[in-house]
Amino acid sequence: MDEKARALTAAKTTAGFRAADMVEDGTVLGLGTGSTVFYMIERLSVRIREERLKISGIPTSYQTAIRAREYGIPLATLDDYPAIDLAIDGADEVDPGLNLIKGRGAAHLREKCVAAAAFRFIVVVDEQKVVPRLQAPVPVEILPFAATPVLAQLRALGCKPVIREGVKKDGPVITDNGNFIADCSFYSIESPALLEAEIGKIAGVVESGLFTGFADKTTLIIGNKKECKIVSSADIVP
Ligand code: A5P
Repeated sequence: MDEKARALTAAKTTAGFRAADMVEDGTVLGLGTGSTVFYMIERLSVRIREERLKISGIPTSYQTAIRAREYGIPLATLDDYPAIDLAIDGADEVDPGLNLIKGRGAAHLREKCVAAAAFRFIVVVDEQKVVPRLQAPVPVEILPFAATPVLAQLRALGCKPVIREGVKKDGPVITDNGNFIADCSFYSIESPALLEAEIGKIAGVVESGLFTGFADKTTLIIGNKKECKIVSSADIVP
C-alpha cells in the first residue's frame, strides 16, 4: 500500500471508529454501506464484545448484512422498527449545506429509506469528499422496464446518463432491488434540492443519490489520518 492509500485508510478508520463510539446502548441503528462504514462495523463489533453494547442493526445492502453478520451485529428490519434512533452512513461528496451525493456502491435507495426513518443521521467521510459544490456524477436507480424514456428525461435535465456496467458481470449492474443504475454527470450542481426534486418526478426513477433533506438531523464526521472534525447543521452558514 502506498502512502496515499495508507492515509486514506487511516482517515476512513478514524471517522468510522469515531461514529461507532457515538452509538449508545440500546440503539436501533441504520447500517450504511461502503468502505468507511465497514470500519464503523469493525469497531462496533469490538464494543459489542467488550462492553456488552446492545444494538439492533438495520442493514442498507446485502453487502452490509453479510459483513454485519460476520462481525456479530444483531440485525433487524424496517418492518421491526419503522422509526429508528440513528443511521450511520458514508457519502461520495458533501457540500457545506450538508447535501450529499451517495450511491457509488448502488445502495442509495435503501440508504435513503433508512436515513429517512432515522431520528439522527451520522455521515462518515474522509476529508477529500468535502467539496464547495456537489459535482460528482449522480447515481440514479431506474426501473429497467422504463430505461429508455427515463434516460431521455434525465438527458433533458442537462446530464449525460450512462447505465452502470458490472465488474466480473457482463451487462448492467443490477441493484439489490432488481433495478439499473444510471450515472448522471451534471458537473457543477447549482441547486441540489431542486435537482433531487426534478429527478424524482420522472416516472420510472426509483431514487437518486442526492440526499438534500437530512441536514437538520445530520452530524458529519470528517476523518483525516490523525483525527476527526465534527460538523452539524448548527455550523451551516446560510
Ligand atoms: C453506497 O452505495 C454508497 O452510498 C456509499 O455509502 C458511499 O459511496 C460511500 O462509500 P465509501 O465509504 O466506500 O467511500
